[in-house]
Amino acid sequence: MTQTRTAVAEDPAKVAAFEARIAAGESIEPKDWMPEKYRRQLVRMMSQHAHSEIVGMLPEGNWITRAPSLRRKISLIAKVQDEAGHGLYIYCGAETLGVDRSELVGQLLDGTAKYSSIFNYPTLSWADIGVIGWFVDGAAIVNQTILAKASYGPYARAMIRVCKEENFHKRQGYEIVAVLANGTPAQKAMVQDAVDRWWWPSLMMFGPSDTDSPNTAELIRWKVKRKTNDELRQRFVNLTVPQAMAVNLTLPDPGMRHDAETENWEFGAIDWDEFNQVIRGNGPCNKERLDARRKAHDEGAWVREAASAYAGKQRASQAAEAA
Ligand code: ACO
Repeated sequence: MTQTRTAVAEDPAKVAAFEARIAAGESIEPKDWMPEKYRRQLVRMMSQHAHSEIVGMLPEGNWITRAPSLRRKISLIAKVQDEAGHGLYIYCGAETLGVDRSELVGQLLDGTAKYSSIFNYPTLSWADIGVIGWFVDGAAIVNQTILAKASYGPYARAMIRVCKEENFHKRQGYEIVAVLANGTPAQKAMVQDAVDRWWWPSLMMFGPSDTDSPNTAELIRWKVKRKTNDELRQRFVNLTVPQAMAVNLTLPDPGMRHDAETENWEFGAIDWDEFNQVIRGNGPCNKERLDARRKAHDEGAWVREAASAYAGKQRASQAAEAA
């Protein structure tokens, strides 16, 4: 089964029953009937999400050999390894929708699949590792704790475990940031520079503004998304501003102000041209990231060959036993 199934008219009674289940807050499971468009939306979102976890290992992996202490190295290795686990977990979830992981990975490697814009920025200093944990994993938690209530059961359940680990990632990042922010003037300058570079790309992670988001309305109607891109972005800003204040770091948005009525921190205009360039493949590191994934894929060919040879042997011996 692939994503390119032939479109057939769907039975209105089945569609109505499905919509009623969604309205009642029921969880949709792999063997349940679902509209083809619902299935395709989930494959799109889950595969992009899985790709993001896998590509997301690269910017941080870049600092494992240069972590400033054994303790920092151990937690960074553990974090990067967790991201690999999240990717594999979400690919498995996507496979419950009738797609094959190798097909999805093929789309990543041939450049036709999207993955999160944030991972196309370079990690220039050790402080970037702290700020990624604080902002990027912080943003992921805001987005994914809501996805843990998504209507598709396997995705929602995957998010519960993923978010537990993301919480640890955020804490390790914020701790690095707090130590540097209270360190020498050079350390403080280094972490402020990382904050300045990562702030706006982190806000872009939540996707285009609601007025330019073609998928949101349908995903909200089907209770896959429970909040819009702008709602989640605002929540992230509201949570992060006090955290920046607590460590005396400045967010690079001089016009930011607190609205006492809405209790929101109002922020400045996002550079959507930059966002669009990055998701079209023209960000600072898009080429480097895909080259690294292609190289890893080629170098892993022998593992895939060995695994399929072993599976073939198992099948043959089971068939011989059954005969
Ligand atoms: N980076 C790359 N592409 C993006 C981004 C982004 N930050 N935000 C939106 N897009 C893409 C969408 O995938 C969509 O592309 P497509 O229609 O060609 O597939 C297009 O831009 C328009 O966006 P929306 O209509 O707003 O898309 P959607 O409703 O799916 O919302 C969002 C995008 C918020 C990313 C949603 O898909 C989501 O919550 N996904 C699951 C979480 C996830 O993937 N997180 C990635 C980072 S996880 C981590 O930190 C490891």
